[in-house]
Amino acid sequence: LGSKIIHKKSVPSTQNIAHQLAQEGAQHGTVIIADEQTAGRGRLERKWHSMSEQGIWMSLLLRPKIPPIQAPQLTLLAATVLADILLKKVNVKAYIKWPNDIILNDKKIAGILTEMQAEQDQIQYIVLGIGINVNQSHHEFPEELKSIATSLKIETNKTHNIRDLIQSILTTFEQTYDHYLQNGFHDIKMKWESFGYKLGETVNITTPNHTWNTTILGIESDGGLLIKNPDGKTEKIYSAEIYNEGN
Ligand code: BTN
Repeated sequence: LGSKIIHKKSVPSTQNIAHQLAQEGAQHGTVIIADEQTAGRGRLERKWHSMSEQGIWMSLLLRPKIPPIQAPQLTLLAATVLADILLKKVNVKAYIKWPNDIILNDKKIAGILTEMQAEQDQIQYIVLGIGINVNQSHHEFPEELKSIATSLKIETNKTHNIRDLIQSILTTFEQTYDHYLQNGFHDIKMKWESFGYKLGETVNITTPNHTWNTTILGIESDGGLLIKNPDGKTEKIYSAEIYNEGN
């Protein structure tokens, strides 16, 4: 991983560059990093605000030999890597909010966007995008994000070295990824659950059809979220938003 790192000053989105390179045959482990994105994307077609040189905006091109159905495991794997780095390098305990948000002190510090190209039950490639708010000050966030997003600088009162953080992420990602390919998902699942946001707590979950009050139990190896409804039944969900009770 990272044997080929492409560093750009400003691009619309590192995801788009990664897709383009993948289609041109770029190899597994290619990394695209940008100082600034003018059209950063999040999940559910949301905009991802990516200010100049204040954060980590990067996309990893992966060509894993796993069935497409296991691809969500890579999002969960990446989330554990980020939470782990924040704990070990920055000394803060962040939580992973299913499926792909990293939460620090109840605000969003990082997000992951996994996009897959598959054909006939085979993965052609995966573009795994990572966005981390590192050195933004509070006033630099747009108004609508101020109450829901944060940066490492805001939370620790220090500026952080973006290069060092990227290096740690790539090294840890590679180790975790190799371990996963050799040993399967079990250890990732345990780690994920040690960082799980609101695990064992009661929250509001909203799906396209309804909202209900439920307890989060953990994740499943297919990437689903395991929940327990007020009637005591457990259920697995694949697409939803989690809200704190009362929000
Ligand atoms: C989310 O929280 O919804 C996912 C956010 C992912 C943002 C990263 S920044 C690098 C890469 N390029 C993008 O346009 N998006 C991802």
